[in-house]
Amino acid sequence: MEIKKIAVLGAGQMGNGIAHVCAQAGYEVKMRDIDQKFIDKGLATIKKNLDRGVAKERMTQAEADEVFGRVQGVLDLKDAVKDVDLVIEAIPEIVKLKLDTWREVDGAAPEHAILASNTSSISITQMAAVTKRPEKFIGMHFFNPVPVMGLVEIIKGQATDDATVKVIEDVSHKVGKKTVLVNEAPGFAVNRLLVPALLEAVFAIQEGVATVEDMDLAIKLGLNWPMGPLTLADFVGLDTMLYIADYFVDEFKDSKYRAPALLRKMVRAGWVGRKAGMGFYDYSGEKPVPNKF
Ligand SMILES: NC(=O)c1ccc[n+]([C@@H]2O[C@H](COP(=O)([O-])OP(=O)(O)OC[C@H]3O[C@@H](n4cnc5c(N)ncnc54)[C@H](O)[C@@H]3O)[C@@H](O)[C@H]2O)c1
Repeated sequence: MEIKKIAVLGAGQMGNGIAHVCAQAGYEVKMRDIDQKFIDKGLATIKKNLDRGVAKERMTQAEADEVFGRVQGVLDLKDAVKDVDLVIEAIPEIVKLKLDTWREVDGAAPEHAILASNTSSISITQMAAVTKRPEKFIGMHFFNPVPVMGLVEIIKGQATDDATVKVIEDVSHKVGKKTVLVNEAPGFAVNRLLVPALLEAVFAIQEGVATVEDMDLAIKLGLNWPMGPLTLADFVGLDTMLYIADYFVDEFKDSKYRAPALLRKMVRAGWVGRKAGMGFYDYSGEKPVPNKF
């Protein structure tokens, strides 16, 4: 089966990145969000990232314009999915929202279309089960920022068939990513390790072990991470991290995955990281400034 048209649900951090790399690989992309202002913001980010590529001489202006021209912003869900071969969902990490969306998508997308979720932790099998095509349902987990990061984790649900895996492997390779195939488990492979590590860094801040700046520097230089855990947490989004922590506790029935109170408090305050301009760092100025806790 050849994929030509792709719908990306969500124009946020992940959605616009996924739309970008798909368009760059030559696919026609419809990027759907629930409000025009989110679509405009997602399109502006794609444009900005393409402009950066032109400035760095990775592509010509004409090529960048062509890529941008392949992304169409869409408000109506049915419009977005009615004639596509693949739907990639990147909406917030809320189980009910995802299940409701997949029911609607299943009713509106062509029968042959493959349904893929970019969820960080939610069960692929659970989402597949609300559709009439669980064999065509799969996890396609990109990493942030999508145009830069080289991996897609492909997750097989209980009923996902091999033909679907093969198509998604091919699409992932075409958009320039390496793939790993994982069987379904909360957090898959990468977040199973990453999320507990980031939560532990937040516990350390909560307990006053070190300042935000020093904790980041310690892990960056001591473990040779490309960025510190609190910078990374701000990047991922503290709201997303909290959803995952709560989900892990539920799924594993193990309190070792519990979220620190500080994380919950920050999410309640709207300090959800880089996308909100405030998190462990304040992003309102020219350079991020670490907050004190
Ligand atoms: N942020 C990360 O580092 C990261 C990495 C991998 C996977 N993910 C996963 O990707 C998904 C999206 O995360 P994000 O960081 O892009 O979140 P985000 O908040 O930046 O973007 C989500 C977007 O979805 C939109 N939205 C809400 N309901 C919608 C609907 N019904 N239809 C279409 N759009 C809708 C929102 O308006 C928002 O623009 C989550 O499942 C998350 O777990 C995130």
